[in-house]
Amino acid sequence: MSDSEPGRGAAGVPAGQQARERELVGLVTASFRKTEDPRLRQLMEALVAHLHAFLREVRLTEAEWQQAIAFLTAAGHITDDRRQEFILLSDILGASMQTIAINNEAYQNATEATVFGPFFVEGSPEIEPGGDIAAGASGEPCWVEGTVTDTSGQPVPHALIEVWEADRDGFYDVQYDDGRVAARGHLFTDAGGRYRFWAVAPTPYPIPHDGPVGLLLAATARSPMRASHLHFMVKAKGFRTLVTHIFVRGDEFLDRDSVFGVKDSLVLDFMSQPPGTPTPDGRNLGDRAWSRVRFDIVLPPTAAP
Ligand SMILES: [Fe+2]
Repeated sequence: MSDSEPGRGAAGVPAGQQARERELVGLVTASFRKTEDPRLRQLMEALVAHLHAFLREVRLTEAEWQQAIAFLTAAGHITDDRRQEFILLSDILGASMQTIAINNEAYQNATEATVFGPFFVEGSPEIEPGGDIAAGASGEPCWVEGTVTDTSGQPVPHALIEVWEADRDGFYDVQYDDGRVAARGHLFTDAGGRYRFWAVAPTPYPIPHDGPVGLLLAATARSPMRASHLHFMVKAKGFRTLVTHIFVRGDEFLDRDSVFGVKDSLVLDFMSQPPGTPTPDGRNLGDRAWSRVRFDIVLPPTAAP
């Protein structure tokens, strides 16, 4: 059965064999023809076309097919309400970023979107203006401030801002087993569209790599590291919801982020403040150094493409 030798490629497959393979693609595609939802039909027909094209192009072996099933099974087994292996898989394949690119076309001067990631949790604590999201998370204090405006510069009052980040050790609260809620919160812009809060300075961290996605990264000589970042999700009536991060200028992983999330416009100056530098809100940090960053957010209207 030399036709199925790996690496031979579809080009070397005899015409009769190619016809049988195409016939199967046609049968599977046709099996969806009674789908009532036209979008579902389109998705399934395109999925069949691309999946079969992939199988035929690489001449997938039965052993490789079994390995793929085992991989997906392991991804399912490690996934629960705190660990989401499938988002990690989507992220490291660039599928998350591609979906974001498709659905968030650049619109005038609106802030760019990036990956959502697996660590957002509904029901974060509300933070008063100038409050601290750290809630005991380790890390250097970081003052974050800015505005939320529309694309013409008009302030957006009472916009909901969700923020979340890893601690100094590179872990989100949900990665600990003690049920802590830390380094996440939500707040609202004031009447002038302004916001401000304390967080901890972002540091690089590896995406969870003790599961099947980690094995895949290792087998393909890829690093699990993400560039330092702070997650934002901003919602306001009449505007497209923005899911994004801000990144730290000078971070060593900006050019090799494991999930392809970095965009130049989201790389900001986090300015170091030596111990003793007065804080914007008079908070006494004693002999601790701190940093500050300004992130002015521009939301596109709901009607934007
Ligand atoms: Fe993250």
